[in-house]
Amino acid sequence: MMSRYIRIAQVLWCAVTVNAVIAGAVAADGEPTVAVRPSNGLAQTPPMGWNSWNKYGCEINEQLIRRQADAMVASGMKAAGYRYIVIDDCWQASRDSSGNIVADPQRFPSGVGALADYIHSKGLEFGIYSDAGDRTCQKRPGSRGHEYQDAAQYAAWGVDYLKYDWCNTESLDARSAYGTMSDALRASGRAIVFSICEWGIHEPWLWAAAAGGNLWRTTPDISDGWVGKARHVDWFGVLDILDLQVGLESYAGPGHWNDPDMLEVGNGGMTVEQYRAHFSLWALLAAPLIAGNDLATMNPAIAQILTNRAVIAVDQDPLGVEGRRASKDGDAEIWVRPLAGGSQAVVLLNRGDSPRPIQLTWETLRLPSYVPVDAVDLWTNERIRGATKALRFTVAPTSAVMLRVTASQPGR
Ligand code: GAL
Repeated sequence: MMSRYIRIAQVLWCAVTVNAVIAGAVAADGEPTVAVRPSNGLAQTPPMGWNSWNKYGCEINEQLIRRQADAMVASGMKAAGYRYIVIDDCWQASRDSSGNIVADPQRFPSGVGALADYIHSKGLEFGIYSDAGDRTCQKRPGSRGHEYQDAAQYAAWGVDYLKYDWCNTESLDARSAYGTMSDALRASGRAIVFSICEWGIHEPWLWAAAAGGNLWRTTPDISDGWVGKARHVDWFGVLDILDLQVGLESYAGPGHWNDPDMLEVGNGGMTVEQYRAHFSLWALLAAPLIAGNDLATMNPAIAQILTNRAVIAVDQDPLGVEGRRASKDGDAEIWVRPLAGGSQAVVLLNRGDSPRPIQLTWETLRLPSYVPVDAVDLWTNERIRGATKALRFTVAPTSAVMLRVTASQPGR
């Protein structure tokens, strides 16, 4: 229901002017509609970068962040397309007597502006974190009531990306709170990617793009494990997060992405095969690729996952269509994503603990069975030419095969 109103509002906006938005209106189902912001033109492909939270939590400081920026360049990640270095929660200490946000002077003695300059000097972009409530999740000052002041400060520091959380928001309305910060960022005069993080609890896929978000979390926090909730453990592993993406694919597109949370690749809780599957699936989902491991000490197997150009090209495909689960047979799943130029990306996922034969039929690819298809395995680079009807793979336990498939051109 909501999405229809957003679409109507988008048409209205295009037809008239930015002032003609329907702020404060109420849809027929009684839910408040959201004022529709025009696109800020950013994040035409899913953002790629690194964030401090998954590995370091509150144990951050300026040397650590500089080291990660250095390693993003030295490891080849920058060359592979990663751009943003994002400091998550715990960089803030207080507000001064004028209400300006103050960084922790022990951990960031040179100041946030100097850190931003350093990151920019490496050809990278700089991201920061705040919260729509009075306090962040780690009880640092949030932005409630200081949205415009904070946005102006971020712009003065040279911030390029804001992750905006949802702790301690009490009676706030998510649509308007995120809309306010989005307006404040725009008013700051700096191009700042807006990352909405309310864990999917208010169905942000229905309104977050209209509220000015470039990406929005669809789930609670990811953990460094293959499966949690599905085995009645109280945390979300890769498979639990994956299951929550089913049906959301139509809401993503250039400039506005579903965010199934940051990567755990390299943090030590999963096998290399599982990390490869995690990365493959996130690329298939057109997810933001925000690494969360120590880039300075990662081993070659992990670096190879994070810098796999063929998989990254799927994630960054300019068509910007999110992939979907095309079939499920117990632990065997096939995920498919259409790509620019007519190829398709495919992930054959074995969720279970024993090897599993998985057959990819042309029906799943929505191709006639007689069409010859070329396929390349994006992890082994093995090529198959001119296959017809189906391809069969035996997929190892808790792992995935990722392919790019292309129907042969007529007359070849
Ligand atoms: C959570 C958020 C995490 C991290 C954490 C920081 O709400 O989902 O990604 O930002 O807060 O306290």
